[in-house]
Amino acid sequence: MLPKINSLAGYLYEYQKSIANPEDFWDTVAQSFYWRKKWNKVLEWDFNDYYARWFVGGKLNITENIFEKNLFLLANKPAIIWEPNDPTQPHITLTYGELFEKVCQFANVLLANGIKKGDVVAIYLPMVSEAAIAMLACARVGAVHSVVFAGFSASSLSDRINDAQAKILLTADGNYRGAKAIELKKIADEALESCPSIQKSIVLQHTKSAVMMQEGRDIWWHDAISAVDTKNIAEEMDAEDPLFTLYTSGSTGKPKGVVHTTGGYMVYTAYTFKNVFQYEQDDIFWCTADVGWVTGHSYIVYAPLLCGATIVMFEGIPTYPDVDRFWAIIEKHKVTTLYTAPTAIRSLMAYGTEPVERHNLSSLRILGSVGEPINEEAWQWYYTHIGKGNCPIVDTWWQTETGGIMISPIAGITPTKPAYATLPLPGVQLMIVDSEGKELTGNNVEGNLCIKFPWPSMIRTTYGDHERCKQAYFSTYKGLYFTGDGVKRDADGYYRILGRVDDVINISGHRLGTAEVENAINSHPLVLESAVVGFPHDIKGQAIYAYVILDNAAKNNDPEKIKLSINVAVSKVIGAIAKLDKIQIVSGLPKTRSGKIMRRILRKVAEGDTSNMGDISTLLDPNVVAEIVEGAKLL
Ligand code: WT7
Repeated sequence: MLPKINSLAGYLYEYQKSIANPEDFWDTVAQSFYWRKKWNKVLEWDFNDYYARWFVGGKLNITENIFEKNLFLLANKPAIIWEPNDPTQPHITLTYGELFEKVCQFANVLLANGIKKGDVVAIYLPMVSEAAIAMLACARVGAVHSVVFAGFSASSLSDRINDAQAKILLTADGNYRGAKAIELKKIADEALESCPSIQKSIVLQHTKSAVMMQEGRDIWWHDAISAVDTKNIAEEMDAEDPLFTLYTSGSTGKPKGVVHTTGGYMVYTAYTFKNVFQYEQDDIFWCTADVGWVTGHSYIVYAPLLCGATIVMFEGIPTYPDVDRFWAIIEKHKVTTLYTAPTAIRSLMAYGTEPVERHNLSSLRILGSVGEPINEEAWQWYYTHIGKGNCPIVDTWWQTETGGIMISPIAGITPTKPAYATLPLPGVQLMIVDSEGKELTGNNVEGNLCIKFPWPSMIRTTYGDHERCKQAYFSTYKGLYFTGDGVKRDADGYYRILGRVDDVINISGHRLGTAEVENAINSHPLVLESAVVGFPHDIKGQAIYAYVILDNAAKNNDPEKIKLSINVAVSKVIGAIAKLDKIQIVSGLPKTRSGKIMRRILRKVAEGDTSNMGDISTLLDPNVVAEIVEGAKLL
């Protein structure tokens, strides 16, 4: 059984143990899993020329740890309760026994379609149970899944497919988002026009909308599963074989595929799930994230199922058919643990408490927050009106790259403080540094957040380009993993995440790189150049402010129309999440003599704080600043 912390003293004891001897600590945790062959060595690593290997020589299959290991106990226990977009439609419950059959069956579909260990399978599916089944089926046969959020555009999808050379695409005819139906297959078809590595596409019938099925390439999901049986023996995986790649944005270039491996990811995600959420057998755990993000990978699919939990998977959106949908679902399925994002809390808060009061939320025991800093007002509302003052909030800080939760209260055990992620979990060795990389010791300090020792679920590489991984995470500060976040350690030694200090914008908990958004804007034929920054937004946390230089040819066009068409171009290149909230047309950008954009200035203007621009003497043309300040007032 996975160890479970049950007191503050217990947390402090485990934390000390994990720091004093990390190898022994994780050795003990890992022993509660089923390994076909035990590891020879717990850890090998080097942060300078980066590599990290956990449970070296261990052999396992993660799905055997979900199914075979527990099945005699859990066969009839609900694993997934799937709640559809439309509440008048029935929900679907899959027991562990039923889920196991479906995973084995789909594993056989993958094998029958030529997938072998190490091949990449792209998954572009709505929030349906088949998304989880597909991920687990990949893990079963040793294929590396690459899930692409169904809100991404055709070009984002094809970029990701091509980067990883995926062989099969799993998609659906369509998906629902509230009152809207989206023709997913059409987007996938457009993407596949430029994806030569894709040999087959398996298409789930979900909305029953009319689709084009390409002869020789496209296969219906229901036909594929009816052709295979439901028995499958799991592939034997090395602890360090990749489990999945998941694309995420950084400061530079195109999104990169963060690679997680099998053994360490399994051990760390399950351990953190059980402890942070203080998991108990009859819990109903609902994480509202999409499986397209790491939160969905780690805390919808893998960790809860590894712990034998019952999860709720919700297809729809918080405001459909009415703004009480979240609360209705909690009441209907007697959810005990709700794990959601600050942006959802803030948007629902705006409707007041009446929609909440329509429902009995007494099943709730624990509340979680993830994805972005939670402001104190949202924290208090969540605590008071959703938790009725009885449910501890776990504000969990982590990243796609960390695989699992790193800084968080242990629910009901660590005393909380609004807006603080509080303390590091066992095994997590934080360091705060200044911009020169000098460690800031003691309390009451603020700086950049680094991690100085490996943890089992850390990023292993970026798909196909290890140099990029080293560059992005291990080059800013020598010998340290740099998170990209600013942080404060207060007088009590508690951590508060202050947000990104690099060129990453966090919109509603979704990560976008400024370079990526600028490239999308620049794809517009009338745009010469652009620069984007984030600015505070009441609901989304941050929104995008774009400064755009237009081509001369745009002179005679209506600027408002151009702005609209720029947004269309951006959502075509990236997806609707990259909407520009403000677009300011400028004649120049504040650049230094070396050509670097001084984003600090653009951020200040976007925030509406132009009282003190600091030193602008190194700018090539300091006059553009005044123009930008004046122009911003007219927006
Ligand atoms: C970035 C990682 C963690 C899974 C979902 C997002 C921000 C995440 C918190 C939190 C303050 C947070 C950070 C981080 N972030 N959780 N509890 N408090 N900020 O994963 O897309 O990889 O983004 O999200 O800035 O670096 P991601």
